[in-house]
Amino acid sequence: MILVLVGPPGAGKGTQAKLLCARFGIPQISTGDMLREAKRSGTLEKRYLDIMDSGGLLPDEAVIGLIARRTVEPDCSNGFLLDGFPRTVPQADALDELLASQGGTRIDAVIQLDVARPLLEERLIHRRTDKRSGQIYHLVYNPPPPGAELEHRADDRPEAVAKRLDAYEAMTAALLPFYEQKNLLHRVDGVGKPDEVTHRVLSAIGRPGSGGE
Ligand code: AP5
Repeated sequence: MILVLVGPPGAGKGTQAKLLCARFGIPQISTGDMLREAKRSGTLEKRYLDIMDSGGLLPDEAVIGLIARRTVEPDCSNGFLLDGFPRTVPQADALDELLASQGGTRIDAVIQLDVARPLLEERLIHRRTDKRSGQIYHLVYNPPPPGAELEHRADDRPEAVAKRLDAYEAMTAALLPFYEQKNLLHRVDGVGKPDEVTHRVLSAIGRPGSGGE
């Protein structure tokens, strides 16, 4: 199964990705996580680091290469879930070409999580992530347990959040119709408890009550 999660920053892609991947037994492939890992290990080019921290999008070629290398790893043989990729039509075209070159597999569904902008801002500014486990928390809605080693993302500062939301709005103008025309796009209300949102996603893709592959 190949799933794609799209949606604005803070829509809950990372949160839903973890829940869906556990259900279907497929890996989560998040370009944002891969880039942050490269940042931590000091291998992310300085020009990309600056773009990321300020809330801009990296050039298409920088992320397409990451996906090409990751999707051929053995744990992807039964499928995967893409979180945060593709974000532009050139990235979506590159993904189609990549899948065609990897034995003709196809995307099963593209899920768009819809959340209104004021709530997105509130979610992002109060987000914290546990450095060790990668678990995502919210200081109000899902407070971290005592002892968690918390990280506040550089791009969750208010000015970077505004830039990321603007970049998403500009990008989706073209990407969503691209998948709508292919009859792959499922729009899901991303407001509510994470489990409720997962339930909506599973119903939207025709897998209600799905317990795994
Ligand atoms: P990326 O890491 O992909 O960030 P993003 O798209 O901005 O999305 P976020 O991770 O901020 O939010 P999310 O939707 O995953 O929400 P989450 O589940 O954490 O990308 C970061 C940067 O990398 C980009 O800006 C760009 O520079 C670069 N990049 C990455 N991919 C790229 C690409 N393809 N092309 C070019 N550049 C690329 O939830 C957010 C908060 O809300 C959390 O606190 C969570 O606890 C809370 N929450 C989640 N769900 C709920 C709920 N149902 N109810 C209440 N609270 C909730």
